[in-house]
Amino acid sequence: MKMLVTGGAGFIGSNFIHYILNKYPDYDVINFDKLTYAGNLENLKELEDHPNYHFVKGDILNSELLEHVAKDVDIIVHFAAESHVDRSVLDPFAFIRTNVLGTHTLLEVARKLGNKRFHHVSTDEVFGSLSLEEPDKAFHEESPYDPRSPYSSSKAASDHLVRAYYHTFGLPITISNCSNNYGPYHFPEKVIPLFITNLMEGKKVPLYGDGKNVRDWIHVLDHCSAIDVIIHKGKIGHTYVVGGNSEKSNFELTMAILENMGMGEEMIDYVKDRPGHDRRYAIRPHKIKAELGWQPTIGFDDGIRRTIQWYAEHEAWWQGVKTGDYLKYYDTWYNKH
Ligand SMILES: NC(=O)c1ccc[n+]([C@@H]2O[C@H](COP(=O)([O-])OP(=O)(O)OC[C@H]3O[C@@H](n4cnc5c(N)ncnc54)[C@H](O)[C@@H]3O)[C@@H](O)[C@H]2O)c1
Repeated sequence: MKMLVTGGAGFIGSNFIHYILNKYPDYDVINFDKLTYAGNLENLKELEDHPNYHFVKGDILNSELLEHVAKDVDIIVHFAAESHVDRSVLDPFAFIRTNVLGTHTLLEVARKLGNKRFHHVSTDEVFGSLSLEEPDKAFHEESPYDPRSPYSSSKAASDHLVRAYYHTFGLPITISNCSNNYGPYHFPEKVIPLFITNLMEGKKVPLYGDGKNVRDWIHVLDHCSAIDVIIHKGKIGHTYVVGGNSEKSNFELTMAILENMGMGEEMIDYVKDRPGHDRRYAIRPHKIKAELGWQPTIGFDDGIRRTIQWYAEHEAWWQGVKTGDYLKYYDTWYNKH
């Protein structure tokens, strides 16, 4: 199978390419990535000489280049996006540009090239926010869309476009809406790697608001295996929600990291809440389990321990990305926001 992976130099995309070439060494993978601040070819260094791995630097708004690169592929797996909610508060247009206009460009290319198989990687944030008072409620495939940040709105718009191309043009699509990922190569602006690397540097961790906001956490390799089953066995035109069966408040998450690193609550710095901070996300991944036999395999306690270990062993990687643009962003967000 020949696969075009957009955004393959980012966190999940690079884990996905490693996963695919490890599991299917005869597959051909083209990584198409603009290399924004979030894209890092260091994530794929071990694959540089792999005969079936190819990298093309490009923007998903560049239809001419995409048409050339995608002409022989069997499937497009679309990860490329602006992905950080806080940055979407600072600069919404970057999110509209890549997530909406970029996805549209890619859909048009897929259509022009004879309706290429297309998998769209999306988020549970499109469904909005659940209440802490109704712990039994969770997102599922029929949940109404109710996005509340510029990031989740742009992802919701892209999901709608992908579905529209299925209904209108017969493009053979699938969509996955996944909960919060964690694991290796996670850019340290996101909460888990930010906290782990701050603690490794002897700094406190900035916890938003009252720390009670809840997220479902999934190890990135479980997300990769979910996409794997969807692209091979998923029903065309269908959406699958994907989750880790692991809801944690941000306080519980922080304490789990602190305890694993032999530290305590004194390392928490309570900071002003994120504007429009969704209270709770939860996922019941019943459909993907019933129809495709997928379920997460990495429990949170094991996953977080392994992730901390990975950051301890890859200090050069995260020190390398915690510079330049990252420092500028961090300073703007935490000091001036
Ligand atoms: N991180 C999560 O917890 C999570 C959960 C569910 C879904 N998702 C979705 O998964 C996808 C990947 O997320 P991630 O966390 O790996 O993001 P990331 O920010 O780590 O990586 C995004 C990648 O896309 C590339 N990119 C950005 N704009 C581009 C453009 N215009 N053209 C080409 N490449 C471009 C970047 O260079 C980077 O390599 C996104 O679509 C995101 O919405 C993420």
